[in-house]
Amino acid sequence: MTRLKNDTLIRALLRQPTEYTPVWLMRQAGRYLPEYNQTRSRAGSFLGLCKNPGYATEVTLQPLARFELDAAILFSDILTIPDAMGLGLYFAEGEGPKFERPLREEWEIRDLAAPDPGVELRYVIDAVGEIRRALAGSVPLIGFAGSPYTLACYMVEGGASDDFRTIKTMLYARPDLLHHILEVNARAVTLCLNAQIEAGAQAVMIFDTWGGSLSHAAYREFSLAYLQRIIAGLKREHAGARVPAIVFTKGCGNWLEDIAAIGCDGVGLDWSVDIGEARARIGNRVALQGNLDPAVLFSPVEVVERETEKILASFGYGGGHVFNLGHGISQFTPPENVKILVDCVHRASPRYHGNNANTRAS
Ligand code: CP3
Repeated sequence: MTRLKNDTLIRALLRQPTEYTPVWLMRQAGRYLPEYNQTRSRAGSFLGLCKNPGYATEVTLQPLARFELDAAILFSDILTIPDAMGLGLYFAEGEGPKFERPLREEWEIRDLAAPDPGVELRYVIDAVGEIRRALAGSVPLIGFAGSPYTLACYMVEGGASDDFRTIKTMLYARPDLLHHILEVNARAVTLCLNAQIEAGAQAVMIFDTWGGSLSHAAYREFSLAYLQRIIAGLKREHAGARVPAIVFTKGCGNWLEDIAAIGCDGVGLDWSVDIGEARARIGNRVALQGNLDPAVLFSPVEVVERETEKILASFGYGGGHVFNLGHGISQFTPPENVKILVDCVHRASPRYHGNNANTRAS
């Protein structure tokens, strides 16, 4: 077992004391970095990056070479799982992800099977191993997958959607069919995350980007119930270390208590909730991750620093906070502002931790 030189992220997720607040950013490897765009053009496409462990390793490490981030996140995509199920993922320029064979017919849904991560997702598992070797114990590697409902949105709609007409029609008219898709997805995600953990992922995160588009009751039935099933099936310890699990539902404000009760270690927050209020509601049960509005990063330095400090202050004294954005970083973000943000978290957060925190908090 390699000991981590910097395990601040893991300790924060387990709500253990840390010296400062760890920080990483959703989509930290991506198009806002010129070196990413260069590697992507060498690889030929985004999927060319994902499917080649050497390229995936190279782009995973790019943001860590520039910024003092406290974690790396596997470079991949949530849609590799439905691709491995045979739906044919492709990216049309400027249109986002699409499937050649979205789920339309009942027999297609009945035929759906969870892929074997060691076979159909071998490139993801190999990338995890190669990234771990390249990181050489410097910071933890986060593995990830999409939530069953978010994956189903793309699988049924065939791509991005503004009204989710097809999947919501299925949800209300044929809930049995949607439940079948979600069951297969939950199995596939559990297998894939466990394979990532066995290959070396030291924390895992589930992205539920579209759970927040559901009605109150439907969120519990069609998204949360399956997130809970995944959490229950995850390996929580590997190579003598606890592997924390983070759940992120965009638009989760209504359901914080419900999410905190499914057994995850951390809850990701989008920017619509006040992190101090979220802490008062669920901070005694889970760590919180978030939640700066990614649009703040378009602002001048003083604004980036002020908004970053506001979130640290709102969370307040003590551990259990992982600084992040409330959603993925925009491709139009100036990289200099990411440095300002990361350095600001490291400079301004120690006063909320350690002995300072104990005396100040009492
Ligand atoms: O965070 C990271 O750095 C790890 C890599 C990562 C990517 N996608 C790379 C990516 C992660 C964790 C994801 C998750 C993902 N993918 C989600 C959930 C999180 C979220 O953002 O809501 C979703 C919904 C997807 C599906 C997906 N993949 C979409 C909607 C898009 C298009 C987005 C866009 O901005 O055009 C992608 C493509 C994608 N995934 C890119 C990256 C870096 C951009 C692709 C490119 O280089 O052209």
